[in-house]
Amino acid sequence: MKELLKEAKKVIDNAYVPYSKFRVAAVLKLKNGKTINGINIENAAYGLSNCAERSALFSAYSQGIKKSDIDSIMVYTDKDYFVSPCGACRQVMSELMEADAKVILANSKDEFKTMKNKDLLPAGFSKEDL
Ligand code: THU
Repeated sequence: MKELLKEAKKVIDNAYVPYSKFRVAAVLKLKNGKTINGINIENAAYGLSNCAERSALFSAYSQGIKKSDIDSIMVYTDKDYFVSPCGACRQVMSELMEADAKVILANSKDEFKTMKNKDLLPAGFSKEDL
């Protein structure tokens, strides 16, 4: 977890947040030990902004990574409190990560809070509903 935090602290500088100034980094840990980063990327058309979690997952899938390859995702903010994934990210995480994948929230005080992906979106919409 320390390693993920170190990486998150480095990559958060890449966040593109001219509007909110609220920086977030997400680091995916793969089962083979590799990591993949994402940061939030905003836009003058605010609704087009992309959260760090989705940036990391879309980057991973773009590289051919599958849900079974992903062990966990760390969501880091440089605040002294935890920030929890938004509803859109929970929906995407529920489809692109396994139910038992870990979601680790981390903050500037080097505190961690670990949850399971499946607990973040109870009764969510899924491909089984189509
Ligand atoms: N944001 C994330 O990147 N992840 C979250 O879990 C919560 C919110 C971003 C979106 C936007 O760029 C900024 O934080 C403020 O909402």
